[in-house]
Amino acid sequence: MSTPAAPTPAAPTAGASTPAGSTPAGSTPAGSTPAGSSPARPPVLEVKDVTVTLSGRRVLDAVGFTVQPGEFVGLIGSNGAGKTTLLRVILGLQRELGGSVRIADEHAGSGIGYLPQKVLLDPDLPLRARDVVALGLDGGRLGIPLPSAKKRALVDEMLEAVGAMEFADARVGLLSGGQQQRILIAHAIVSNPPLLLLDEPLANLDISSAQEIVDLLARICRERGIAVLLSAHDLNPLLAVMDRIVYLAGGRAVTGSTDEVVQSDVLTGLYGRRVDVLRVGGRVLVVAAADEADEDHGHE
Ligand SMILES: Nc1ncnc2c1ncn2[C@@H]1O[C@H](COP(=O)(O)OP(=O)(O)O)[C@@H](O)[C@H]1O
Ligand SMILES: [Mg+2]
Repeated sequence: MSTPAAPTPAAPTAGASTPAGSTPAGSTPAGSTPAGSSPARPPVLEVKDVTVTLSGRRVLDAVGFTVQPGEFVGLIGSNGAGKTTLLRVILGLQRELGGSVRIADEHAGSGIGYLPQKVLLDPDLPLRARDVVALGLDGGRLGIPLPSAKKRALVDEMLEAVGAMEFADARVGLLSGGQQQRILIAHAIVSNPPLLLLDEPLANLDISSAQEIVDLLARICRERGIAVLLSAHDLNPLLAVMDRIVYLAGGRAVTGSTDEVVQSDVLTGLYGRRVDVLRVGGRVLVVAAADEADEDHGHE
């Protein structure tokens, strides 16, 4: 309750040192409040002091942050930083050792959209692209099924939104990586979840496809008021759309606007070793000094 609403660039919220209740809804930094999100609304997701140990190793250490309704949040970290583990904890697929995850009451039960990391579609899978999108309406819905005409209209609208009409009737396993990703995103969004989790949806895409996917995802989710938590190891394709960043390293997290978090001193504190942030031609390069333990090797 004591954190001021306008943190200075040097004071993003450190997950590891966040006292309970100190990240109120109003803490969204000035200039980054997403359209349609009012500070008075409760967060759609509240992660507090989440700690996870796997095979005796502390993978997440008191990670905390919130996601406001309609907000686009980038979960950034190098390989092995704990991004997938954190998303699995939020989904209830991975038990945490400590801490809590809260989905806003008004959304409890309405389902979280999820696109797992590296979904592999067999070329022989006997499903058309549109069938995969339609499955997103059935999955997890135990009530009365939608009438088929209504369902078809929702699927068509979704296919149109992701620019997939021209390959809607193609066998999904034969589509290119970028086309499949559009279909999988459509599958995850078609039921209009209040919160959508995407685990590295840009990995394996070339730079221009990645940018196209990000742009359409941001547009559709803004139109529909869907909050997004998207994990990535490269923050560059997300720079224009992120309202907030959650940066993970060494099991700990810092959160704030991109400008607040992606600073040499902030990331040096997070990594516990020297990190340089270079801004070149509109791109950001985060360079961590080599570490003897070498666990974060290969970070961009
Ligand atoms: N089931 C598991 N048992 C033991 N260690 C695991 C398990 N799953 C993941 N890990 C380890 O936890 C760390 C975080 O993994 P992960 O969440 O997949 O990171 P990211 O998604 O950021 O690449 C890694 O060091 C990984 O080796
Ligand atoms: Mg992962």
